[in-house]
Amino acid sequence: MTWLEGKIVENRHWTEALFSLRVAGVRLAFEAGQFVRIALDMEEGNAGSRVARAFSMVNPPHDPVLEFYGIVVPEGPLSPRLARLAPGDSLYVASNPAGFLVLSELPDAETLWLLSTGTGIAPFLSMLGTDTPWRRYRNVVLVHAVRHARELVYRETIEGFSRLKYVRMVSREKEPGALAGRIPAALRDGRLEAAAGLALSAETSQVMLCGNPDMLKDAAAALIERGMRKHRRRAPGHITVESFW
Ligand SMILES: Cc1cc2nc3c(=O)[nH]c(=O)nc-3n(C[C@H](O)[C@H](O)[C@H](O)COP(=O)(O)OP(=O)(O)OC[C@H]3O[C@@H](n4cnc5c(N)ncnc54)[C@H](O)[C@@H]3O)c2cc1C
Ligand SMILES: NC(=O)c1ccc[n+]([C@@H]2O[C@H](COP(=O)([O-])OP(=O)(O)OC[C@H]3O[C@@H](n4cnc5c(N)ncnc54)[C@H](OP(=O)(O)O)[C@@H]3O)[C@@H](O)[C@H]2O)c1
Repeated sequence: MTWLEGKIVENRHWTEALFSLRVAGVRLAFEAGQFVRIALDMEEGNAGSRVARAFSMVNPPHDPVLEFYGIVVPEGPLSPRLARLAPGDSLYVASNPAGFLVLSELPDAETLWLLSTGTGIAPFLSMLGTDTPWRRYRNVVLVHAVRHARELVYRETIEGFSRLKYVRMVSREKEPGALAGRIPAALRDGRLEAAAGLALSAETSQVMLCGNPDMLKDAAAALIERGMRKHRRRAPGHITVESFW
């Protein structure tokens, strides 16, 4: 692994805590859905003080500008510093993207369900920006669950995917048109299927989940209650997860 130095070309702030960094000057070969470690030096000019964290690419692989979507964890060592980067600043990007939350690992199905909380939407945006989901799945559903409506980001990008069924969930305030509460409850009581207008079953569906580890655990349990199984290369199933912490 080597560190590649990129330059920030944009740092878009969606809210006081949510930001998207666009980074030029680094060419990475990766599959949509993968992540890479990005890093900053805590002391200027001291590579020994470099702090790195995994971030999923938001951009599809054919886009030469890398994009990362992040949240400020106030007590975290890296994310508050990332949020303060300005155009022209350097960002180090590891040369070895990785991760198994990718469509090449997934069996075919009628419907692909992409379930996310918070910044967990990032790898799904990258996948949706490629031809693969549209070629392989008759139906594609993106569920984005957030605390507050203002965190329903990338609306323009999402609305550009004409075949996508987009289900919004907002847990901490009322939002017209969005489901209330959390993904596992909406799976169990059928509201998620009703909102998408599609059945979610082992016979018809592949489900990818990304974001909060407690959501992954609770949602996987709800799916297992429906007769679905974790997907493994040697034992194909229906549930593929990636935890962000
Ligand atoms: C495979 C993988 C991919 C990731 N992709 C992304 C991404 O695309 N965007 C992103 O913002 N983060 C992503 N993360 C998390 C990221 O690596 C950092 O943990 C995060 O940016 C916070 O860094 P930090 O140094 O400030 O705090 P850390 O010390 O890393 O984290 C402190 C705590 O903050 C909370 N936390 C961490 N990340 C998040 C988050 N994303 N949302 C809400 N709470 C969080 C957790 O409670 C964690 O224990 C990913 C992590 C993994 C393992
Ligand atoms: N979001 C903000 O306004 C904000 C602002 C500043 C900093 N931060 C930092 O970011 C962190 C949180 O980030 P976030 O809001 O993106 O992520 P989050 O806490 O994971 O919340 C995102 C969504 O996931 C839901 N969720 C949480 N636990 C779940 C579970 N067990 N099962 C199903 N769904 C679950 C939440 O519902 P509930 O609402 O019911 O928990 C919410 O709808 C905080 O710890 C803080 O450090 C956040």
